[in-house]
Amino acid sequence: MKVLAIMGSPRKNGTGTKVVREIESNLNNRGDVKVEVLYLTDFDILPCRGCFTCIKFGEARCPIRDDLVKIEQMIEKADGLILVSPGYVQNVSGLMKNFMDRMAYTNHRPRFFGKKMMIVANGGAGLSKTLDALRIAIGGPEVVSELQYMQLPWPTRPKAQAKKEKDLDRATAKFFDALMENDMQPSFSNYLRFRFFKTASESAKKWLPADYEYYHDLTEYYYDVKIGIGTKILATISMNVAMRMMRNMAPWPEGEMSNEDAKPEV
Ligand SMILES: Cc1cc2nc3c(=O)[nH]c(=O)nc-3n(C[C@H](O)[C@H](O)[C@H](O)COP(=O)(O)O)c2cc1C
Repeated sequence: MKVLAIMGSPRKNGTGTKVVREIESNLNNRGDVKVEVLYLTDFDILPCRGCFTCIKFGEARCPIRDDLVKIEQMIEKADGLILVSPGYVQNVSGLMKNFMDRMAYTNHRPRFFGKKMMIVANGGAGLSKTLDALRIAIGGPEVVSELQYMQLPWPTRPKAQAKKEKDLDRATAKFFDALMENDMQPSFSNYLRFRFFKTASESAKKWLPADYEYYHDLTEYYYDVKIGIGTKILATISMNVAMRMMRNMAPWPEGEMSNEDAKPEV
């Protein structure tokens, strides 16, 4: 099994590296897992220009040519991913956020299916918010394990150290088991996301043509998998409620508006 760890810290000798090495040795004790460590700081990833082209017309039309495609190829070759970020101002680091912005199109049109993802936040206060951000960093891989790794700027007591090791061990075991199981059944929230984007891509066809192209031939899910009837019913009910609540956000039919109203807001 191949795992790619994507590191959000600008420091290669910091806590993030220490945690990943601990996870690696823990995984190696359980089975044959090779961890490759990718430091975002070593790659030329330019900031998003905000043109929205990737989301609207497709990622192939992004005007930026840099190392992002190299990282995408490395992700493609891995069975599992570990995303690691220090908590910066109760969020992810700038390096990680920059990477996330460039991968934003995967939130509309997911890829890298079947890959299992572990997310790790290290630092002190606000690590749950760092995890919230990491959870949606890449659309497609299933987040199967999460770890908040406390690293305070002072030595902590043995009890706190023991808890840290126990949490790391538990989170790594979960990740390892998911890697070995290779279960392709999506979580309910991922299935709901599929239903939402499929419905939205049809009504927003004119404004988000890449989404429409991506979704219009998909029926059951993003890939070939059987979705249970109970899941489908629950998702239909949830979708009806969500669509009702968001009805004022849906595209306004042209017949109902004046020429002035018909101009897009952006
Ligand atoms: C710019 C910056 C912002 C930070 N913000 C926070 C924060 O909001 N809360 C916190 O507890 N620690 C914060 N820290 C501390 C780091 O999260 C912590 O030292 C982390 O373990 C560093 O990881 P690294 O060694 O892998 O770089 C911040 C550090 C930096 C450099």
